[in-house]
Order: sequence, then C-alpha cells, then structure tokens
Amino acid sequence: MSSKEKHPGLDGLHPDSLVVSTGRPAPSPDGNINPSISLNSTFFAGGPVGYGRSGNESWGALEEAIGALEGGPTLVFSSGMAAINAVFSLLPKGAVVTTSKNGYTGTMVVLAKLVEQEWLEVRYVDVADTEEVLAALPGTSLLWLESPTNPALEVADLPKIIKAAKALGCGVAVDNTFATPLLQRPLHLGADISMHSVTKFLAGHSDLIMGSISTSDPALFHRLFDARKNGGAIPGPFEAWLALRGIRTLSVRLERAQANALELAKRLTKHPAVERVRYPGLPEDPHHDRARSFMKGYGAILSIDIKGGPNAADKACESSRLVSYATSLGGVESLWERRHRWAVESPTIPVNLVRLSVGIENIEDLWNDIDQALRASQE
Ligand SMILES: Cc1ncc(COP(=O)(O)O)c(C=O)c1O
Repeated sequence: MSSKEKHPGLDGLHPDSLVVSTGRPAPSPDGNINPSISLNSTFFAGGPVGYGRSGNESWGALEEAIGALEGGPTLVFSSGMAAINAVFSLLPKGAVVTTSKNGYTGTMVVLAKLVEQEWLEVRYVDVADTEEVLAALPGTSLLWLESPTNPALEVADLPKIIKAAKALGCGVAVDNTFATPLLQRPLHLGADISMHSVTKFLAGHSDLIMGSISTSDPALFHRLFDARKNGGAIPGPFEAWLALRGIRTLSVRLERAQANALELAKRLTKHPAVERVRYPGLPEDPHHDRARSFMKGYGAILSIDIKGGPNAADKACESSRLVSYATSLGGVESLWERRHRWAVESPTIPVNLVRLSVGIENIEDLWNDIDQALRASQE
C-alpha cells in the first residue's frame, strides 16, 4: 500500500489505538474496512509492483501496520528465519558479526554454517555483559542483538550498546520478537534493523509462520527488498491477512499475558520443584533494573530450571493439561518445553531449563495446571 492510500490522521496515536487502526484502506463510501486477501500472482502492466513476488496488497497493509508500530518502513517475509537470512545475505565475505552466545537456535545454526563455509567471522558475547559487548565492537560489521534472549531471558543494555555500536559505524540489528514494539522500539534507540518472528506475538494465534524487518535506512530497505524479491521468501496473502488480524488485539493480549507471566513467576519462585525462575519482571531478577530502565514491560515469556534434571523437566512438560507441551511462543495459549530436547540448543543453556510462553488463560487455571505438573515431575 503506498503512503498516499494510508488511512489519514493516525499520527500521534497511542500504540493501543495504532494496533487497531493502522493498515486499513483509506475510508470511502462502502469501501472495505479491512484490506482484502489479494490472490494475485501478477498485475496489469503500468504500475510500480508488476508481479506478485514484489508486492501484494495484503502484505502491504501488514507492512504498514508493523512499520507504524516499529517506527520504520517494513518488509514481511515468509518466516522469521527468511528475514534473518535476508539480512545475513547482505554481508560480504569476511564480515564480522558479533552476537549472543545464547541466542535463538535458528539464528545460531545459520551463523555457525556461515562460519563453517568461511563466509563470516562470528564473535560470541554475553549480551548482558555490556563491557564484553563493547570490547567486541571494533571491526564488527553487524551487531546482531536479541533482547530479551531466547530462552534465558537476558536483557542487553540496548540504549548504551546501540549508541556505542553506531558511533563505531557498526550495523545494528535487534531481534525484537520477545519484547514486541509495544515494549521496546529498537529503531528509536538508533538500531538499523528491528526484526520479528511475526509467527509469535504479532500474529499471536500459533496459526501461521512469517517474519518482518523494519529499517530506518532507505538504502538498506532497498537492498532487503531486492533480497526478498530475488530470494523469493515472500509470505502468502492469507497469512499476511491473518497476521494483521492478530495485531488488532496485540495490546490486550500482551497486557493479559504479561500480567499472568508476572504472577506465575512470583509463585514459581516459591515452588519446591523449581530451582530458578528467569523473568526480568521479578524485582530480584539480575536483569530487572536494566529492563525497567528502558522497556515498557517485561513480556510474557519466562523460563524455569526444574529440580531433578532433564528427566524431571520432561516429566513436567508431559504432565500438563492446560499448558500445551509444544515449541514456539507468543500465542494466546500457554506452551512450554524443555529447550534441550532440541539437539541444537546452545550448550550454555541448562539442560533442565523449561521455557514457558504464557498465554491469556485464567491465572488460577494456569497455576493449578503448572503446580500439579511440577509436583508430578518430582515423583
Ligand atoms: C527470537 C526468535 N527469532 C526468530 C525466530 C524464527 O522465526 P520463525 O520460526 O518465524 O522462522 C524465532 C522462532 O522461534 C525466535 O524465537
């Protein structure tokens, strides 16, 4: 959707209103209130799009919405991984990437492959250790930050790190999947890229896979646009339509899920089956003060290290009834899993760590289910 077709008068709205109002067709008598699902692989000649691998009305509306929330022009991709690969595809041979040693496994696997192929050099850092990150910056082409990290919930000092990286001329990308643009806006902190697995909180219903990249740099936008067009990792129009439908309720979903997460985190700290709770919303969490200093909330993901090792952790996941035993996160339904059930999980993540994506169910129902599953894990 081009800017002249945008719904007028949305400037200055609160994000709670933006999620509802952005990405709609311009008002006209009997015009659609929602964008259409545009099922077209090609278009009549003479316009700027031309062919369905370059653009589609349904993605355009979603891009407008994510762009309004993130604060920069946006491209949507067929998955979060497609978005990540598009960024890495722009790096020349020999480029240095600095990233978390505990990041999302998919990103870690792609980077490891590029190192094995002698395409990139990767410096792995503890993103919560600001001095360590700053020391790795000289010579870095791209600083790839994820914050909070998946699944250890570490928080990087984004304002300080982004400022220092930009002063040295490093490119900075932030995987904003866990926080969502409602809790932090990396482009406003000076990052070049804010990336999402749209699959998660933005779409919010565990019914599609999609990714996005927002950037404030027009030249970078065009290079990424070409990477998507030529790489072919475009989303389907129906998925784009669903994702935008999901964004309409992002604010209320996140509000409820966050409140549930905080309450569960508090109760879990006192649970006899739990060794450690990782949630930046807890005042005693090592990342709490930093998160509070620049984030607007602490998100709806928490991780727990379960007493009794990996077998007990697996047993807990198998024993829940309301919380589904499944990977992924950010949906309306609560999900949990022991992360090391995946062979690719980082060796720095404890083998008994269970990541819990908290949904919007009733808090007492969630607690009763988690409590009985944790008790069962210790039998
Ligand atoms: C933080 C993070 N980034 C990126 C991805 C990849 O996204 P997708 O599964 O949409 O390809 C995931 C998926 O779990 C994720 O958790």
